[in-house]
Amino acid sequence: MRMSSRPARLRGLLPVIARAFAPTAALHAMTIDLAEIARLFAERGGVAYAGEPVSQLEHALQCAWLAEQAGASDALVTAALLHDLGHMLIAEHQTLSRSPTELGIDDRHQYIALPLLRGAFDVEVREPIRLHVDAKRYLCATRPGYFSKLSPDSVRSLALQGGVMDEAAATRFAAHSWAADAVRLRLWDEEAKMEGLETPPLVHFLATAARVMLP
Ligand SMILES: [Fe+2]
Ligand SMILES: [Fe+2]
Repeated sequence: MRMSSRPARLRGLLPVIARAFAPTAALHAMTIDLAEIARLFAERGGVAYAGEPVSQLEHALQCAWLAEQAGASDALVTAALLHDLGHMLIAEHQTLSRSPTELGIDDRHQYIALPLLRGAFDVEVREPIRLHVDAKRYLCATRPGYFSKLSPDSVRSLALQGGVMDEAAATRFAAHSWAADAVRLRLWDEEAKMEGLETPPLVHFLATAARVMLP
């Protein structure tokens, strides 16, 4: 059998190389802008926040509003607004008859939005979002009375997310550069479930997000 020439062999490899690099290229190109965030809230923000008297949009607005009223930076207000974006990105979870936790599902929503946010926001926005679930596990371990503030759905998800941190894990978490911001976000997260609370509209907080978007 005659071996193919080097150029012919390389041509044959090109589709293989293209396939190998395509996911990486797509990931780098993948990002989200404010118009897409607004569209997500418009299309999916009306879904009830699991077991709570507020929708996903109301929860996000209340969380951002609590952050703003507390004098948080624009980055942390933006993190508060977007901390549960991952819930809205899971298409099949928008029509579940019960909350994911009631079905025994940890949706890992704290991670799901991160690849999309990476091109749009710096770590000061992304890290508190990534850590807001671990912050709950940390607060349960370190702050007396915090566990009693958790909603039934948060208690169910706590078990699915790894449960209360042990001492070593809590020490590691506290040493993280963004732990303090994640804890602040988490405390607003717990409060941001108030039926009928008036907040500024989404456009107000999108303007805040615009100020900290990457160029
Ligand atoms: Fe969350
Ligand atoms: Fe939340």
